[in-house]
Amino acid sequence: MRIVSGMRPTGKLHLGHYLGVLKNWVELQKENDCRFFVADWHALSTSYEEKLNLKKLGYDLVKDWIAAGIDPQHSTLFVQSAVKEHAELYVLLNMITPLGWLERNPTYKDQLEQMRHKEIHTAGFLTYPVLQTADIILYNAEGVPIGEDQRPHLEIAREIVRRFHHLFGCEIFTEPKEMLTPTARLLGLDGRKMSKSYNNAIYLSDTTEEVWQKLRTAKTDPQRVRRNDPGDPDVCLVFDYHKALSDDATVQKIDADCRAGAIGCIDCKKICAASIERLLKPMRERRAQLDERKVESIIEEGNDKARTEAAEMMQRVNGAVFEISCHT
Ligand code: TRP
Ligand code: SF4
Repeated sequence: MRIVSGMRPTGKLHLGHYLGVLKNWVELQKENDCRFFVADWHALSTSYEEKLNLKKLGYDLVKDWIAAGIDPQHSTLFVQSAVKEHAELYVLLNMITPLGWLERNPTYKDQLEQMRHKEIHTAGFLTYPVLQTADIILYNAEGVPIGEDQRPHLEIAREIVRRFHHLFGCEIFTEPKEMLTPTARLLGLDGRKMSKSYNNAIYLSDTTEEVWQKLRTAKTDPQRVRRNDPGDPDVCLVFDYHKALSDDATVQKIDADCRAGAIGCIDCKKICAASIERLLKPMRERRAQLDERKVESIIEEGNDKARTEAAEMMQRVNGAVFEISCHT
């Protein structure tokens, strides 16, 4: 199956990104024809005031992907803004997208509310799903791995495809299907959403020592004062990390031992750190193989491949729009 997905370059990736999105991408690439891209134009839609080095953020993002197991031999990795056809298709799709669809988009309203500190009453932000549609249908993606929050955007994408086909009388696009990631949401070590801005995240690029410092100071069941006080793993974040990253037998043993007061929190955290290490160690090794030049050449190669495909599609699209004819 042909799959397309993108991620905005907002800074280094943490465990939450890995479990929520990347792990799924790594699985999908084995059996499918995948394209993953850095959605840097999308990042601008909410961060145009911040003077971010989006080029560097994009490269770092791709580095995180490859470290996490995305294989550039298998999947095409590229940068959205390097493939101008995304913008070209976006312009055309904007012409046929009713404002009502965008104004009614629930994520639009939510985000305006949540990001009240930012001035995002812009055309770019309102038309975010139109650009996302272009990203997807430019490559005839059949499947789009996304989180729950992105569902309305996929719905809009399908509506735009149908409207295009109807208006121009050419069935040139594939209606994309969403592939929902079962969201094993992992909270930050302080119980809030895992986020750079809360300083509560474990990054995929953290060292062993950094991981341990973060775990060591994490709060556990506050009822446990002495080492053999019985605890309740259900109120302890460290236990959530075990459930996400330790094997089943370990999880069961910790559950029982914590309730019986048979394991201390520090020992429990050491086991948790080991589980995190099991995940991060191979990532560190793959990262060590990468230098700037290598990442750059991987991206250049991906951009070229994407451009070729996108240009072909735009030829058909332009035929349909400007010559009212179907080149299939
Ligand atoms: N909007 C997506 C997000 O914030 C990123 C994105 C942009 C995307 N274009 C896409 C995801 C196309 C899937 C397909 O997560
Ligand atoms: Fe949490 Fe583990 Fe301590 Fe139980 S033993 S409270 S699960 S850290």
